[in-house]
Amino acid sequence: MRKKIVAGNWKMHKDLAETEAFLGRLKEQVMPEEVSIIVAPPFTNLQHAFQSLRDHPVRVAAQNMHQSDKGAFTGEVSAAMLKSVGVETVILGHSERRAHFNETDDLLAEKVNTALGNDMTVIFCVGEELKDRKAGDQFEVVQNQLEKGLFHLSEDDWAHVVIAYEPVWAIGTGETASPEQAQQMHQFIRQAVTDHYSETVAEAVSILYGGSVKPANAKEIFGQPDVDGGLIGGAALEVESFMEIAKAFIE
Ligand code: PGA
Repeated sequence: MRKKIVAGNWKMHKDLAETEAFLGRLKEQVMPEEVSIIVAPPFTNLQHAFQSLRDHPVRVAAQNMHQSDKGAFTGEVSAAMLKSVGVETVILGHSERRAHFNETDDLLAEKVNTALGNDMTVIFCVGEELKDRKAGDQFEVVQNQLEKGLFHLSEDDWAHVVIAYEPVWAIGTGETASPEQAQQMHQFIRQAVTDHYSETVAEAVSILYGGSVKPANAKEIFGQPDVDGGLIGGAALEVESFMEIAKAFIE
């Protein structure tokens, strides 16, 4: 059975006090057992988050990491550094990293290799821009991102890969892909993994949807057969809406 996952990508939100307050409230909530819940705070709060959630089922992820093991890379953070504070999952290839920090497919493939080489799990984001969708190129764009970022991996590596489909036009815009659009792309991604690897690999990989997921639309999106959960931005910043989304699978 594919793992159901709801991950909160905090982006550049919440200082230490806000993180403490959020996690304090989160820990008061009853967690749905069948959903793996992840929070991805900024680097500065990862250690606190890990320690705060040490005896709790919610996991902690980083939002990015550098591809090198160490070196003269001012301002960067390595996989080993993340692991040293307890973080074993990293989001890579988010469209904001691709767009604002020039992260290319080749660079992302390197980052993926480094993360997996350090026994981390990768949440790898793919997704087309509005111009691609308008041109009808969305499947080609996503196929290309998958090929360059992930399809060099071995079958075994896929036990540590989660895919997040995030159409760029739906991120932070209030605009959501319709449940049908999400399903169509998720099915396409799963088929691409089947074609490149095998049905066994494709059936085991969790594919999350991201882009303006809210309590009001989560149930319908998560109800699609190839949607295994969500990568949530804005609505993950409040405990109530985040938990409502996490519980959308069951209620
Ligand atoms: P959003 O962000 O939910 O605020 O649209 C999703 C994401 O960027 O992961």
